[in-house]
Amino acid sequence: MQPVCLVIGAGAGIGSTVAKRFAGEGYHAVLCRRTDEEGLRRSVENIESEGGSASGFLLNAVVAGSIEERVADVEANIGPIEVVVYNLGAQIGDRALMDTSYKMFERGWRMATFGLFRTAASVCPPMERRGKGTILVTASTAAMRGNAGQHSHAAAMAGRRMLCQTLNAEYGAKGIHVVHIIVDGMVDAPDTLGKMLGPEAFRKLREERGLERDGLILPSAIADTYYHLAHQHRSAWTHEVDLRAFSDLPWWNR
Ligand SMILES: NC(=O)c1ccc[n+]([C@@H]2O[C@H](COP(=O)([O-])OP(=O)(O)OC[C@H]3O[C@@H](n4cnc5c(N)ncnc54)[C@H](OP(=O)(O)O)[C@@H]3O)[C@@H](O)[C@H]2O)c1
Repeated sequence: MQPVCLVIGAGAGIGSTVAKRFAGEGYHAVLCRRTDEEGLRRSVENIESEGGSASGFLLNAVVAGSIEERVADVEANIGPIEVVVYNLGAQIGDRALMDTSYKMFERGWRMATFGLFRTAASVCPPMERRGKGTILVTASTAAMRGNAGQHSHAAAMAGRRMLCQTLNAEYGAKGIHVVHIIVDGMVDAPDTLGKMLGPEAFRKLREERGLERDGLILPSAIADTYYHLAHQHRSAWTHEVDLRAFSDLPWWNR
């Protein structure tokens, strides 16, 4: 049976690109995203067109049972999940405290933190039985620093960081490698940053900072790091790493 790389939050940016990187190395990639069936199909076909093997599922990570059922189904019918990538974020743009409803705040926590908790509770038992597995968690600047308007996002992402440390404390010695990857800058990601900015502003941003200027982080470059992290020798594991474009200042200088 092929080992599986399960990606939760597989848009056209980091999620699908990481899936493709693992599929190119012999994994079966399982891509899950919330809404865009057509985009999901394109991502799966893109992997298959290059000889990789992949499946795609719509899944809303905040719905109870969604992740749990998908993990059980993949383990039973596709193959052992060797790598899980928890990639969805919880960015809702900048909102003042009084414009952040209780519901929004709680949704951020459900997406960023509780979803990872449920993912870990689903994948850790089979990984522990096999004595190995990797959980790669995409993070952002908000995991490291609160900022104006980021009440929901920063609280949720910082909670996710502490959850990663806690998971590592319990499961590291059992052979499960948990990595918290801080993406500290803008990514060339049409389904998230692109939609948040709108097509015109995103096109302008790509022209001014992206493409050959390398000022937007390229998902394919991020995917190389994810693949490397998942294949580190266990005598020299990374728990936390940060990535940014060469032209950006890190979070502590901004
Ligand atoms: N983009 C950036 O500039 C940037 C910067 C720093 C950090 N990050 C981090 O990078 C990660 C996202 O990567 P990306 O921006 O390249 O995006 P991406 O992989 O292109 O897409 C992420 C996907 O997550 C899916 N998603 C959102 N909510 C979901 C839910 N409740 N259930 C299932 N799937 C859900 C969305 O699917 P649908 O579109 O189908 O709803 C979205 O397409 C996040 O952890 C974020 O914090 C991004």
